[in-house]
Amino acid sequence: MAVKTIRHISDPVLRRKTKRVLKIDKSVLQLVEDMMDTLEQSDGAGLAAPQIGLSLRVAVLWMPEQEPFAIINPEVVKRIGEREVEEGCLSLPGYQGKIKRAVSVTVKCLDIEGKPLRIRAKELLAQALEHEIDHLNGILFTDHLESPDKLYKLEPKPAEQSTEENTKTSPVIGGTNHSGQESTHAV
Ligand code: NI
Repeated sequence: MAVKTIRHISDPVLRRKTKRVLKIDKSVLQLVEDMMDTLEQSDGAGLAAPQIGLSLRVAVLWMPEQEPFAIINPEVVKRIGEREVEEGCLSLPGYQGKIKRAVSVTVKCLDIEGKPLRIRAKELLAQALEHEIDHLNGILFTDHLESPDKLYKLEPKPAEQSTEENTKTSPVIGGTNHSGQESTHAV
């Protein structure tokens, strides 16, 4: 188990364009494992390699009530429609913004075994894929804000909510964390 420190929004590594993975070797598998551990600890819905300091085209996604999975060298090849969403990022804890995302996307990538995958996704998964692939291109969700007033600070949770059900309330994309619990936050 290796939980890595999540880089914050001012870290220049988040602005660097990432390199493609040429071979899924032991170091890539280790990276994916560390990213899964880090994501589990932070209770987010997705994490991109630059968020733990590595400029490599690797991201992991963990949708509510589903198994986590990694995407290698992902590219969005098709976007359909537009909708307004609430979004946040583990690299900007405590904030959320209203931005526009596609209604559905098609993503080409490799899975962890190097098999080519084409993912057609909508709603939360589409949003998470766009968000993580943005990270791999040095883009943060705050870049999509139409104006600064579309970003707002989340109110800290009142202490009485820290019951068993409500302890995992850190930010995740789209309002639900990977435990499937409703949350008012985003990744
Ligand atoms: Ni993020």
